[in-house]
Amino acid sequence: MRFESKNVLVLGGNSGIGLASVKGFAAEGADVQFTGRNQQTIDEAMQAVPGTQGHQVDITDGAAMDALLADMQASGKTLDVLFINAGVGGFAPLREITEEQWDSIHSINLKSCVFAIQKALPLLGKGSSIVVTGSIGAHIAMAGNAMYAAAKNGLHAAMKVIAGELVSEGIRVNMVSPGPIDTPLLYRNPGVTGAQVDALREKMIESVPMHRMGQAEEVARAVLFLASDEASFITAANLCVDGGAMELR
Ligand SMILES: NC(=O)c1ccc[n+]([C@@H]2O[C@H](COP(=O)([O-])OP(=O)(O)OC[C@H]3O[C@@H](n4cnc5c(N)ncnc54)[C@H](OP(=O)(O)O)[C@@H]3O)[C@@H](O)[C@H]2O)c1
Repeated sequence: MRFESKNVLVLGGNSGIGLASVKGFAAEGADVQFTGRNQQTIDEAMQAVPGTQGHQVDITDGAAMDALLADMQASGKTLDVLFINAGVGGFAPLREITEEQWDSIHSINLKSCVFAIQKALPLLGKGSSIVVTGSIGAHIAMAGNAMYAAAKNGLHAAMKVIAGELVSEGIRVNMVSPGPIDTPLLYRNPGVTGAQVDALREKMIESVPMHRMGQAEEVARAVLFLASDEASFITAANLCVDGGAMELR
């Protein structure tokens, strides 16, 4: 029960890694609020994890983010944990990249994550902890992944700078970087067919020394560790949860 009487906000908590984390935080006693875009999966997540509160808030919608955080502040809440997990994939070879795709991926995976931290600062204080979801894809030159890799690499850089800025305030900031994880993400790439994703999935499994995809729960366990007091001397870290893919290539 590492999160008993702690307030946790998960941005992107209605699917995959975020949902597994919502379940994990709630199971360890936290008061969990989470966001997502899809109202149906938000409702399903609230049903699956009773006591949690889901909000339909797009992380790129600054006004909606402000309203969510203002409501929390008005109710006298502070945040012990902010988990910024919202993200989208986006495969396209260089010749096919469009500015719209680039801007959308960077807006969700980088810009909005940084501004979410800025907006949540009034709710965070000494002893609180921020975890952001990166990706080993930020550090591996996988063909077709320039937009996503650049955004997550930018988020890694921003995470370290922000961790340095907040260390004197007693706020820890860390990143968890998954390798290939079995979630809906891969299948949500616009313009990529199910068969193409299946082929990509096989290629990814080959690249993992443990020869399998990871499970969302395996990433969630790393998130909970970084968010908890067990990680009290850890800040600016990037914890890869990837079956050895980064270091054993
Ligand atoms: N799966 C992998 O192999 C893998 C590998 C490395 C890194 N990651 C990262 O892990 C994180 C979670 O992904 P996942 O694999 O669990 O995929 P997922 O099941 O597709 O979950 C993505 C989550 O982000 C939310 N989200 C996306 N865009 C959003 C927006 N504009 N505003 C608010 N919420 C938004 C989604 O909400 P809706 O469903 O409502 O859109 C969903 O809750 C992402 O940051 C992803 O880049 C995943």
